This record gives sequence, structure tokens and C-alpha cells, in this order.
Amino acid sequence: MIISAMVAVGENNEIGKDNDLPWRLPNDWAYLRRVTMGHSIILGRKNYESIGKPLDGRKNIVLTTNKDYKAEGCHIAYSIEDALSKCEGEEVFILGGEEIYRQFLPYTQKLYITKIHAPFDGDRFFPTIDYSLWKELSVEKGIKDEKNHYDYYFHVFEKIK
Ligand SMILES: NC(=O)c1ccc[n+]([C@@H]2O[C@H](COP(=O)([O-])OP(=O)(O)OC[C@H]3O[C@@H](n4cnc5c(N)ncnc54)[C@H](OP(=O)(O)O)[C@@H]3O)[C@@H](O)[C@H]2O)c1
Repeated sequence: MIISAMVAVGENNEIGKDNDLPWRLPNDWAYLRRVTMGHSIILGRKNYESIGKPLDGRKNIVLTTNKDYKAEGCHIAYSIEDALSKCEGEEVFILGGEEIYRQFLPYTQKLYITKIHAPFDGDRFFPTIDYSLWKELSVEKGIKDEKNHYDYYFHVFEKIK
């Protein structure tokens, strides 16, 4: 099973603000949907609550330490190992937030990172990546239009073994 992380970052590695995304970028959301459809996805409890519902067509696994926690349409996991043991299929996607990305980074083999070339006010950040340990597989410029105001690029990296 390949463990992949998928994230969008601003110019300073910011990923969140007040338990929400610092930007609106529908094209990135559509890209995430396309890439993760049919796969298992792992989310932190705060990220899950920020989204507010399970992502359709995917096995949603929500990490929490609260044994009483319930989220309709989701599987609940209480540790990294527990979350991974509930995954099915060839590739699993770690969807954040910050706490989750940091803990899974040592196990992450593939990184789908949307780099938005603009600064945002953030209170959550993606960990600093040592790109000498990663090989870029692809990069594609995102379309800028009236609904997607920024310059942004979809990168895919693979950890060098
Ligand atoms: N830009 C992006 O691509 C992107 C993607 C995702 C999220 N975000 C942003 O990131 C922010 C949320 O990130 P965050 O770091 O605050 O929270 P988070 O990582 O989404 O969730 C943290 C929670 O996950 C649970 N948890 C963490 N590690 C665990 C473990 N090892 N075992 C069991 N449970 C564990 C705990 O839940 P309990 O407290 O219930 O125990 C913890 O409070 C939001 O602003 C969101 O919009 C951005």
C-alpha cells in the first residue's frame, strides 16, 4: 500500500486559519476529489469537522483520541496504526490537517502538493520538506480564472528510497 499525502500550501507553508482553509480555490478541491476518489482517506478530527461531512465515494477514516466520538458515514481510528489498518486498496491519502501530516510524514511515500504562489494569514503549517529526499514526478500549472484567483501549481513528488 502506498501512503500518500495531499495538501495545498501558501507561499510560507501555511495550510489553515481558524480551522478553515485560508483561501478559496475550487479547482484544487476538484483535483483532490479526482485523485482521491475510490480510495481510503485519513483525516484529523479537526479537519473533518472543518469540512463538516464525509467525502463521498471514499472510505473516510477520522483520527481522534475520544473513544465516544462518532461521525456518520466515517470510520473512527485512535492511532496511526489503527487508521492504517482500516485502509483498503493500493493507495491511501493522508488529508491533514497539520497534526496529521506531521505524524504521517515519516511514513509518507508520495506527496501531492499544490503550491499557491501567494502569502496568506495562517495558524497551521505543513512541515518543512527536505526536497533533496524527494523526486519530482510531475508539475502542472493550475488554471487561473474568476473563481481561482491565484497562481498555483500541482506537484507530485515521490520519496527517494
Ligand atoms: N491546506 C490544506 O491542504 C489543508 C488540508 C487539511 C486541513 N487543513 C487545515 O488544517 C487545520 C486543521 O489542522 P490541525 O492540526 O488543527 O488539526 P487536525 O490535524 O485536523 O486534527 C487534530 C486532531 O486529530 C486527532 N489526532 C491527532 N493525532 C492523533 C493520533 N495520533 N491518534 C488519535 N487522534 C489523533 C486529535 O483529535 P481529538 O482532539 O478529537 O482527540 C487532534 O485534536 C484547519 O485549518 C484545516 O482547514 C488544510
